[in-house]
Amino acid sequence: PIPTAHTVADLRAIVSGWKAAGETVGFVPTMGALHAGHVSLIDIAKTRATKTVASVFVNPKQFAPGEDFGAYPRTLPDDARKLAEAGCDLLYAPNGPEMYPDGFASTIHVGGPSEGLETDFRSHFFDGVATVVTKLFTQVRPDIAVFGEKDYQQLLVVKRLAADLDLGVEIIPGPVMREADGLAMSSRNVYLSVEDRVRAVRLNALLFACAEALEKGELIAATLKTARMVAESAFDMVDYVEVRCAKTLAPLPGPVLDRPARLLAAVKLGTTRLIDNVAANPA
Ligand code: PAJ
Repeated sequence: PIPTAHTVADLRAIVSGWKAAGETVGFVPTMGALHAGHVSLIDIAKTRATKTVASVFVNPKQFAPGEDFGAYPRTLPDDARKLAEAGCDLLYAPNGPEMYPDGFASTIHVGGPSEGLETDFRSHFFDGVATVVTKLFTQVRPDIAVFGEKDYQQLLVVKRLAADLDLGVEIIPGPVMREADGLAMSSRNVYLSVEDRVRAVRLNALLFACAEALEKGELIAATLKTARMVAESAFDMVDYVEVRCAKTLAPLPGPVLDRPARLLAAVKLGTTRLIDNVAANPA
């Protein structure tokens, strides 16, 4: 079984011992319900540091009232087993009051890449993420941390946060892990009904088709217009389908792809919200 720390004090005792022995520390923060996408990040961390820590904490601050905080899958014993199998050295699983004791009153707000996209639909989200990630980084004090491109905007927000606040952590991206039919792996995929799971494949198919069209030199505006129409007919709700600069998430000047870009989308199937993104690079 994997060693597990539930408090900052226990975590620090172990990590300090490692650092005194000259080890380097890689970190993979998660909300648990681990799948092969999470495990791929552990694998990357292991190539970048001599010790690896994973955290499992379902962060209440990144859920709005009415979102799925209560329903979010909690599978800690399974998660611990998967992390042990992956060769992770330590599981950090704080409880709510350890992370947010009574009187907790601070928020980290990152501007820049957090503007637009997810923020237009989940305005609380990146403040919640930035606050918990800052706490996790100062608790674990890793040398590197790995974040998935699955949550592409989050990856850029965390990079900005680490640089702006001199957190001393290098942020390493991990590619999106997908099911055999291309659906991006997500802890939330367990919410999908059998019918919706079949429909869900259309999200990645749409993004890959759009990327191909843009890479061939088709007009951005026309490609997005078609993509949004297809999405409206395929899903119950379309929050956004956008193409942005891959580095900054700024809108592209157009009319065609002129720099490395990212196609990003968020849609709903029933009450389940899916996000996905793919790269689109000019020829
Ligand atoms: P969670 O959704 O559990 O994701 C944890 C990490 O796994 C994130 O970096 C995410 O991008 C990555 N990930 C999820 N699905 C992936 C996939 N299919 N392929 C590759 N990587 C994938 O993201 C969060 O938790 C939280 O916001 C957190 C950063 C832990 C802060 O609470």
